[in-house]
Amino acid sequence: MDKDPMICTCMEIHQSEIEKAIREKNLKTIEDVQDETTAGTVCGGCVDDIYLMLEKINGKVEL
Ligand code: FES
Repeated sequence: MDKDPMICTCMEIHQSEIEKAIREKNLKTIEDVQDETTAGTVCGGCVDDIYLMLEKINGKVEL
């Protein structure tokens, strides 16, 4: 299995980039991640995965 899968194929953003941004910039919402990384800003198909990452790192997701 790919250790660092591409989460957002539209913007070619990998899991590690999103996780790093969430941790380092203390991102709380899907919108924060979109603003910071541009992941999730095209088709929206990866938004569920971003949600799961926010939940995993922060324990919850602010909407
Ligand atoms: S896969 Fe992320 S916006 Fe399309």
